[in-house]
Amino acid sequence: MSLQILGPYEGSGLNFMNFSGKTIAERFAPLNNWGLLREEQHIWPFAMTHDNRQPMNFGTQDYLGLSHNDTIIESVKEFIDKHHTIHSAGSPTLTGRTIWTEQLEVKLAAILKQKTCLIYPSGWMACYGAVTGLTNSKDTIVMDAFAHNCLQLAARYTTQNIFKFNHNDMAHLDEVLEKCRQMDDRNGLIVITESLFSMNSDSPDLRRIMELMHKYEAILIIDIAHDLGVLGEKGLGLLETIDLLYEKNIIICGAFSKAFGTNGGFIAGPLEIRKQMTTMCPTYVFSTGASPLQCFVASKSIDLVFSEEGKRLRKRLKELVDFTVAKFRENDFVLNGKPTQIVPVHIGHERIAKMIFKNLLEKGLMVNLIEFPAVPKGKAIFRFQLMARHQEEEIEQAIDMMRTSRITVEREVADLID
Ligand SMILES: Cc1ncc(COP(=O)(O)O)c(C=O)c1O
Repeated sequence: MSLQILGPYEGSGLNFMNFSGKTIAERFAPLNNWGLLREEQHIWPFAMTHDNRQPMNFGTQDYLGLSHNDTIIESVKEFIDKHHTIHSAGSPTLTGRTIWTEQLEVKLAAILKQKTCLIYPSGWMACYGAVTGLTNSKDTIVMDAFAHNCLQLAARYTTQNIFKFNHNDMAHLDEVLEKCRQMDDRNGLIVITESLFSMNSDSPDLRRIMELMHKYEAILIIDIAHDLGVLGEKGLGLLETIDLLYEKNIIICGAFSKAFGTNGGFIAGPLEIRKQMTTMCPTYVFSTGASPLQCFVASKSIDLVFSEEGKRLRKRLKELVDFTVAKFRENDFVLNGKPTQIVPVHIGHERIAKMIFKNLLEKGLMVNLIEFPAVPKGKAIFRFQLMARHQEEEIEQAIDMMRTSRITVEREVADLID
């Protein structure tokens, strides 16, 4: 399809990946113009602004609602008054590792039953860093086909020996690992996956993965950004399905940005990784460390998440998940994945999804439109995300808005076809 004739409802970001030319205008005007056309139609869901108090907000990832938690906000005020510091001002390898970084490392390592933990300013940097800091070009990486961008890019940066296994397909993983070990029985074999995939709301069979790790002497890097603190009896998400004290070849990475009310990320694992990461990991060594405030907030949030209050919030969120899933189904929506705080609502055709999105924005409902290439072509979804502070009434109202918008759009589309 020619870029010049791409209408606002056609194409995707992929059409503009291969930009070329010598001038800035030649290289970027096509995407800019297409974006402007979409903006005019109110179907450009990127870089929206809001004041974090948007009433009908089902699009942010503040799963336990801690970004608005009064106890944490009060303690932040006290922290600032007492310590009068807001910046780490150095790489954590040199001077940017503050006492609050260390407190957070110790706390999180204990919760994840790991010997060491390193803190990063963002989850992306932590997960990218886990792969780039702990693998090299001799290794073979075997990753879930749907792994997050930070993991995919990190793998590409590190080695050319990359194989993908079908999403959450354990038989395929076994097959790929067997072939990889036949090709190379001496070097590192690294498996990369996530505990909860945020576009699909599904999880791998972690017990089976660990069996395969033992069988093929492989190392697992698992990104737990979306379920730590949110799912599981103890708040450990999928990790609760294995014995963390027994597993010696597992590296855990993740983010504070979903359940812990602040930016930031972490890597946790055996002690041997510490010197490696603090000297070899590019996103650790060559970037300013997480700020004192970030570390303090993450630490306070951890206290809350793994307390009785955290248990209560998880229970409440679970009630809302069950309520939401039932309401969507009552309204004839098809949902992907398993019931979690991430509810992928299947729409299908991109044009219809964009029209519904526009309609919902006009009504004041904030919910993420996820389109190709983030999901396969023709499988556009709305990612409806729940927070423990939501109420049943607003969920009901939001689903009703989605139902009426869908009916309106389907009518409009039918009229266009007639
Ligand atoms: C699976 C996964 N890993 C890592 C990240 C990056 O985390 P952050 O947004 O905190 O940088 C995300 C966030 O979008 C994610 O979904």
